[in-house]
Amino acid sequence: MRDMKTILTTGSNGLLGQKLTEKVLAEGRVRLVATSKGINRYPANEGYEYAEMDILNAAQIRAVIEKYQPEAIIHTAAMTNVDTCEANKELCRQLNVDAVRTLLSICEEKNIQLVHLSTDFVFDGADGPYKEEDAVNPVSYYGESKVLAEELLKNSKTNWAILRTILVYGITNDMSRSNIVLWAKGALEKTSPINVVNDQWRMPTLAEDLAEACLLAVEKNARGIYHVSGKDYMSIAALVRKVADYWSLDQSFINEISSISLNQTAKRPVKTGFVLDKAIKDLGYNPHRFEEGLAILDQQMKRQS
Ligand SMILES: NC(=O)c1ccc[n+]([C@@H]2O[C@H](COP(=O)([O-])OP(=O)(O)OC[C@H]3O[C@@H](n4cnc5c(N)ncnc54)[C@H](OP(=O)(O)O)[C@@H]3O)[C@@H](O)[C@H]2O)c1
Repeated sequence: MRDMKTILTTGSNGLLGQKLTEKVLAEGRVRLVATSKGINRYPANEGYEYAEMDILNAAQIRAVIEKYQPEAIIHTAAMTNVDTCEANKELCRQLNVDAVRTLLSICEEKNIQLVHLSTDFVFDGADGPYKEEDAVNPVSYYGESKVLAEELLKNSKTNWAILRTILVYGITNDMSRSNIVLWAKGALEKTSPINVVNDQWRMPTLAEDLAEACLLAVEKNARGIYHVSGKDYMSIAALVRKVADYWSLDQSFINEISSISLNQTAKRPVKTGFVLDKAIKDLGYNPHRFEEGLAILDQQMKRQS
């Protein structure tokens, strides 16, 4: 117990935040202070501390950190909706860049490791799968905000790690937003026709695998950039067909389209995907295959219902 690090998570009500709480409660490994904006939406409140912490409130951040004195912070909170970021750049910058600057200055002062979550959207998608050292060139404001935050970390004096991830899926309690797997499953079960793009390529990530990578980064005191995603590379249309296959849903409701016809507010990179060798070698990261991830999700949904 004495050797365990105290970690603080931001955005603990989010998908990754809740998976981190779940993992710590199940496995121990660290002492946890979970923080998020507003009340705690995780269904259990024993075995860890919860503190309200709005990442736009510098005084509150300082007070919470001074109270709990974490050795590491896993920063999951962000504006994560890509189209909302494009439509509201000012708030996106405050949440995804300015809040990181605030956290970093306190981490530097108190010698706290900052594990920061970033994205495949830092790349333009012309040339995936990408290695950590490949040149960034975001095509959306969300991607740009994450690049700006990465720059702050790279120039900081504190011990930092950036975990970039891709299209995270999973289920938690009282989710503030859905994800591709839940959306596709839900729509096909209702026999609603869905449009899915067949010209964007990704490596979808099970939320539990990402939470494991975050804890490994803390335990190994990792420094630098790490690519952390699932290991299977597929188009979004192929992903949705795998979801339909797994739950035996009618694929005739899947309408494959090209990105241009979707007309989304923010542009998306075409082919992302990651080379995972560094995280596998240095962190011991070992993600599930996509179908294994669906099986884990299926079990969780059965337990919830
Ligand atoms: N999900 C993906 O596909 C994906 C892909 C690449 C990178 N990432 C990155 O991975 C990280 C975790 O993503 P996620 O999927 O867990 O996102 P998420 O489910 O949207 O969680 C983000 C959390 O941040 C919280 N938050 C928003 N504003 C806040 C504030 N002012 N103060 C404190 N908390 C605030 C949100 O609170 P509410 O719940 O109250 O809104 C939400 O719970 C993010 O940095 C994201 O950019 C995610």
